[in-house]
Amino acid sequence: MATNRTFTMIKPDATQENHIGGILSMIEEGGFRIVSLKKVLLTPERAGQFYEVHKERPFYGDLVKYMSSGPIVAAILEKDNAVADFRTLIGATNPAQAAEGTIRKKYAKSIEANAVHGSDSDENAQIEGNFFFTADEQF
Ligand code: CMP
Repeated sequence: MATNRTFTMIKPDATQENHIGGILSMIEEGGFRIVSLKKVLLTPERAGQFYEVHKERPFYGDLVKYMSSGPIVAAILEKDNAVADFRTLIGATNPAQAAEGTIRKKYAKSIEANAVHGSDSDENAQIEGNFFFTADEQF
């Protein structure tokens, strides 16, 4: 079932370089309402659980290390067509291929340290949002 919510994380490279405000501004200016928001330091175990779908990929070990190397900001966002529109706003996974005007074009440093995560489906948006926020934190 399609929903109007997606999930994002501002990743350690961006939080450590003081880009939380800049990225949240781009998100709000892009027409998204912030439903839930928190800053979290993930343990390697929690980061590994979050990215469990990528367990077999060659970059998994480095990704887990990177995602637990500094704080992240987790957020649930709301807008019509949220999942697809948010992926447009953030741009390609590899910032070298990210379009002008996207969050990754502006803030990402590499394919790994790519500033933000965005859910790839309505189903994953719900799973990922619930990973960080209880029901009474999603309003
Ligand atoms: P994200 O959209 O959060 O989903 C998986 C993450 O793995 C991705 O962003 C990158 O941070 C990281 N990653 C590292 N290397 C690769 C790669 N070669 N392909 C895709 N994702 C990668």
